[in-house]
Amino acid sequence: MAAPEALAFDMYGTLVDPIRIWTRLEQYIPDEALRIAEVWRQKQLEYSFRLTVMEQYEDFEQLTRKSLDHALAAAGRELSVEQKDALMAQYNDLERFSDVEPGLARLQRLGHSMIVFSNGSPRMLDALMDAAGLHQYFDGFVSVDEVQAFKPSPKTYRRVAERLGRPIGEVRLISSNPFDDIGAESAGMQATWVDRSGGLFDNLRPPPRMIVESLTELADVLEKDDRVLCPATTLSEHSAAGVIQEKAR
Ligand code: 2OP
Repeated sequence: MAAPEALAFDMYGTLVDPIRIWTRLEQYIPDEALRIAEVWRQKQLEYSFRLTVMEQYEDFEQLTRKSLDHALAAAGRELSVEQKDALMAQYNDLERFSDVEPGLARLQRLGHSMIVFSNGSPRMLDALMDAAGLHQYFDGFVSVDEVQAFKPSPKTYRRVAERLGRPIGEVRLISSNPFDDIGAESAGMQATWVDRSGGLFDNLRPPPRMIVESLTELADVLEKDDRVLCPATTLSEHSAAGVIQEKAR
């Protein structure tokens, strides 16, 4: 068995699904719920990137509310304050991906140090981990609020390493968000891409060396001593093989 690692798990998109909130939105806006949920998420990330470039910071909950308002306005729709409050409450009760519980349970048994690492505010992360039953698997969380900057600022990745008491190169980010994987590697951290998108990574940088399609597959891979390293040239090969692969550098 390979040595236990220090694993930092991204939250939104990796452990819980922010887009699934469309099923709640559908109660208010049946015809455009999915599209609005997608724009909501895109705008939320865009705001976080822009603030970080401006060296400014706002609580992620505020950004999430502002981006909801934008997504609704862009679709020409309006909701009451009560309806928006209900959606914000739902954001702290997002659905867990189905592989998360079995995957985390196995990773925990393998002895890995595990922490949640997210743009989410401490209040959001605490509520979400409670609702999704995640506290039991993790040694708490690191919110970027601690450094008042959003991912992919290198400050955020350095803070996780500090909290884990490890050199940054010994920490592995587990994230389905390509910008997060790229940010982690750029800061000197290892990264695993959880491919929840069917092979669509990003063109800014090559994908990480380790790619999995689920957390159960991550447990399989980390359990093996004899990691399979095979050259890959295309993203579709990466996701099809579902094993650790060489970066297409
Ligand atoms: C997270 O930090 C990037 O939204 C993602 O949880």
